[in-house]
Amino acid sequence: MSAPAMIAHLLLERLTRHCLPRTPEDQGVMEAAEQVAAFADSGREQGILAYIYLFHAALSLPVIRSGDRVLDLACGPANQLAQIARLNRDCQFVGVDASQRMLGLARDTLARENLDNVTLRHGDVTCLNDLAAASFDAVLCTMSLHHLNDVGALTRALAEVRRVLKPDGGLFLADFGRLKRAATQRFFAYDRADMQSAPFTLDFLHSMRAAFSFEELQNALTDSRLDAHGYHTALAPFMMIFRSASRRELDPPLVQRVQAAFRQLDRGLQRDFDNLARWFGLGGLPLPCPIR
Ligand SMILES: C[S@@+](CC[C@H](N)C(=O)[O-])C[C@H]1O[C@@H](n2cnc3c(N)ncnc32)[C@H](O)[C@@H]1O
Repeated sequence: MSAPAMIAHLLLERLTRHCLPRTPEDQGVMEAAEQVAAFADSGREQGILAYIYLFHAALSLPVIRSGDRVLDLACGPANQLAQIARLNRDCQFVGVDASQRMLGLARDTLARENLDNVTLRHGDVTCLNDLAAASFDAVLCTMSLHHLNDVGALTRALAEVRRVLKPDGGLFLADFGRLKRAATQRFFAYDRADMQSAPFTLDFLHSMRAAFSFEELQNALTDSRLDAHGYHTALAPFMMIFRSASRRELDPPLVQRVQAAFRQLDRGLQRDFDNLARWFGLGGLPLPCPIR
């Protein structure tokens, strides 16, 4: 990523008053074979999303307690879910997705990683009828809310979160934020085009266009009476994280597992991780533990 070009885009975002309207995803539920495969491949070991998955996993740790039952909404191919489940072996995870094709890949991910603390369910995050009220200690959702059709669907999904989450449970939501300018959206989508597949690049661009704004997500959380503090990457909400209050201190063995996962990333991905951590740190959200 060219730092001067990125800073120029971020400054222009600050100076621009009007925000582009949202363009919902053509495919909310991801079933198209090419798109699903491109997304899943990007999240495998040393894939282009691997550093984001470790970053989200590290940032989610304070809201998950030992022994928790944790729901991952719209888990996709479970690359993110597997990363979090590996770090929290003493918790039980349930991944839900509305795409059978994604769930098929998620089953492969879990089998390959030999993870026995995750189960998968087919379901729509806006209507989780078969999950009982107050049956989860924590709820996670990463890079998926922008797949919902509109603010109404977002509010329905968050109302379901509120229903299935125990009082004082943990909440971790991470997603792209809506940028104001088409040029900034294209900059981020195409910045790594030479390192990612063409379907992934297109998918990324659609995600940028479909992202909810920081305020839309914040208001939907307030309407759903969910308590979470929102942060975004400094200067502009390329990515945003909403997280409830911390529920635990990270003990040394857990920190060592995070650090070991970081060491497994190749040099380029470690650099990307550091940059994202710095960018969120400038936005007020530091890492919960040292990464080295
Ligand atoms: C971009 S993927 C993200 C997957 C995963 N959370 C991650 O971080 O890698 C978005 C996922 O949301 C799923 N999805 C979209 N709308 C959904 C809905 N209404 N209910 C459940 N899953 C949905 C899609 O099928 C897809 O698997």
